[in-house]
Order: sequence, then structure tokens, then C-alpha cells
Amino acid sequence: MLKLDAFLIEGGRKLKGSVRISGSKNAALPCLFASLLTDDVCVIENVPDLRDIRTAVALLQQLGKKVVRKNSRVEIGPARRLQHHASYDLVRRMRASVVVMGPLLARLGKARVSLPGGCSIGARPINFHLQAFKKLGAAIRVEEGYVEATAPVLRGRRIRFPFPSVGATENALMAAVLAEGKTVLLNAAREPEIQDLAECLRSMGARIHGHGTGTIVIDGVPSLHGTRHVVIPDRIEAGTFLAAAAITRGRLLLRRVNPAHLSAVLNALRRAGLRLEVGRSEILAAWTKPLRPVSLKTRVYPGFPTDMQAQWMALMATVNGKSRITETIFENRFLHAQELLRMGAAIDIRGAAAVIEGGRRLSGCPLMVSDLRAGAALVLAGLAAQGRTKVLRVYHLDRGYERMERKLRAVGARIRRIAQ
Ligand code: UD1
Repeated sequence: MLKLDAFLIEGGRKLKGSVRISGSKNAALPCLFASLLTDDVCVIENVPDLRDIRTAVALLQQLGKKVVRKNSRVEIGPARRLQHHASYDLVRRMRASVVVMGPLLARLGKARVSLPGGCSIGARPINFHLQAFKKLGAAIRVEEGYVEATAPVLRGRRIRFPFPSVGATENALMAAVLAEGKTVLLNAAREPEIQDLAECLRSMGARIHGHGTGTIVIDGVPSLHGTRHVVIPDRIEAGTFLAAAAITRGRLLLRRVNPAHLSAVLNALRRAGLRLEVGRSEILAAWTKPLRPVSLKTRVYPGFPTDMQAQWMALMATVNGKSRITETIFENRFLHAQELLRMGAAIDIRGAAAVIEGGRRLSGCPLMVSDLRAGAALVLAGLAAQGRTKVLRVYHLDRGYERMERKLRAVGARIRRIAQ
């Protein structure tokens, strides 16, 4: 049962203090799934405590793995008998579950995974994943809502992605590490989460080069061994707290971050006029003067991340002047705009672009969260708004932000969770 909690926010407080950034959700998920590639023990550290991670652990357990979780450390032991079937019940809760397909196919020669919700037959939203498996020699069948891949042997090939998809790159990478011969992934995703997965796989004995560039070369090995891997910091959580400092005219020190992963976000904030001091693993963000509007387009890494687009819109809604945000990665990712309008923002959606007439006073009201990052944007807007904001459907936020309200409260926000 989903808990229908809400956040109550009293806006208008400047945030001040320091925040410890958690491990990256999007890096932790594929690293946890990489444990399917071996029977040895894998220890994954700096794993955030989130709903998506709990779903991943449940999925690993359903596949037969023994999983022990202690704080941010997850230990995955051998499977009594590794299963090849990922049920609808778990995949529908989290799209990223489809990334078990590559490792299962590599280990067992078969994988049967529910198609994520919203997919039509033909599986368009995971078509790049499936095309990669086919290239490696798998036969693909879609039946009764499940996609089944079978391949007695996987053989290394050159695979060119039509788009540098993060999930498809992860799936192909994990299928290729145990394939016979050399695989070359062209137009591969370059996101830090891919680099982290590749490092995790290398620490298990995989032979991978070029991760972090658009061409990843994998020399297949017969088997992988266990590992202990520490997940990278969450660049989107970090970006969200930087936006929180900016929108509340506050001053926050972010600890345990990797500033190199945040360059596009830091550049945008600098252009807006936020003062930033960047250390090795810390960032100090301080509001010192009214910010300027900054227009941007979302891009694949190292461009401005689509997962920060909603938060940027909330910030721009509070900044005097006109800005334009263009979403180039996802077609329908402006659902937060409708809610921001209800708070008094002036935003005009024109296809893939949103034009924001910033600087109107936002006022608190009940808001409905439609997805994870939209939820983050609404919390930010609530922190800046006058009066009380009630953010409904907080379960979306619980998928990706570890103890968000506690972290915000610790730096001076008036926010609390209430049961509905
Ligand atoms: C991952 C991230 C998500 C982020 C996104 C883009 C995880 C768990 N999630 O999602 O937070 O917003 O990267 O940075 O890591 N596409 C296809 N066919 C495919 C695969 C993708 O058409 O087979 C399209 C998608 O519909 C989308 C675009 O490619 O328009 C990018 O998607 P992709 O990079 O695959 O995102 P995810 O891996 O799902």
C-alpha cells in the first residue's frame, strides 16, 4: 500500500547550514543489479534509503538473491537458484527494473521481464535496449505484457545507439561483459552513473574502456567475481539543494558532492548570479544579490540534466525577467508548470519550450506531485512562496530523495510530513 503522505510547508524562510548529499539513486540501481552477474558476494556502499532502492532489493530477492541491508551498505550474497523472471508487480513500480534484463541474459541466457507501464506492444520505450540485445545474438519475444530474451550464447558486436540512452547503455554494458569477444557501444550515454557502473563492473573483473565517452569498448570475460563498490554522490539531489539555496535567498554548504558532475548546473547558477565556492567535495552556495533569468535547454551529459529542469523552472519563476526552458530529452515533462501556475507563476508552454515571466509573487496552495522531479520543483516553490503550501503525493519524492523533509528542516525550512 502506498502511503499518501503530504508535506506542509510554511514558505519564506532562508535556508542556512550544511547538507550531506546522499549516494546517487540512479548509479546505485544498476550497481545493485550488477550483482546478478556473479555468485560471489557484492557489497555496494553509499546506497541511499529510498523507495526505488527498496524496490530494487525486492526485485533481487525475487530473482533469488540474498540481500542484507545495513544503513547505506547493501550486501548481496549468492542466489540459491537465480531466476530469470521479473514480475509486473515490481517493474511497474520502477521503470529502471528493466535493467535486470542485461545481467540476467548474460548469466542465464534468458530473461523474462515485464514491460514497464505505458509501453505499447513493440516496446518503443525500451526499443534501444532490445535492439542491443538482438545485436548480441538474443531472440526477443513480447507476450502477455512480458518481454522475453533468449540467447544460448552472446557474441560481442558493434552496437550503435540511435540516441545515447542511459538505461539502454547500462543494459547493453551488463550483457556484453560476459559475452564472447569484443563489444563496441557507439553513441553510448556518458552520464556519471554509466561511469560509476563501469567502474563497479571493472572492480568485478570486467574489461571495459572508454566509459565516460560516447564509445565504450568491452572485452568479454568468462566470469566475474564479487566486489565492494562505493556509489557516487547524487548530482540531482545536490542540484536540488543548490536550487533551494538560490530560491530561498539562503546560504548552504553541500558536503560529499562531486562538483565535476555538476558543471552544467553550476554554470547556470553562476550565470544567474548565485555566489558559488567549489571545493573538492564541497560546494558553498550563497545568495548575495537578486538573480537574473537564465534560459537553457536540457541535454544529455555533460549538458544541463533533464532531471533538474523542473527545479530550474521553479527557480526562474521567482526571478525577475523572462527566461525560456527547452526540454529536449522527454516529450511531456512540463507537468509541474500547471501546478506552478496555480501558485501565481506566469508560464507559457509552447511545445517543447516553456517561457517564464519570472518575478510574480508565489503564494502557497495545495499542489499535486506528478513525478519525482516535478515534486522537487513544487517543494522548492513552496519554500519560496508566501503562506502555506500542501504538497500532495509525496510518495513520488520518496522514490528519489532521502529524508528530504528532515534535511530541509535541519537547514531552517518549515516543512513537515503529514499522513493523509
Ligand atoms: C535515466 C534516468 C532518468 C533520467 C534519464 C535521462 C535512471 C533510473 N533514470 O532514465 O532519471 O531522466 O536517464 O537522463 O537512471 N528512449 C527510447 N527508447 C529506448 C530508450 C530510451 O525511445 O529504448 C528515449 C526515452 O523515451 C527518452 C530518451 O530516450 O526520450 C532518454 O531516455 P533514457 O536515457 O533511456 O532514460 P532512462 O534510462 O529511462
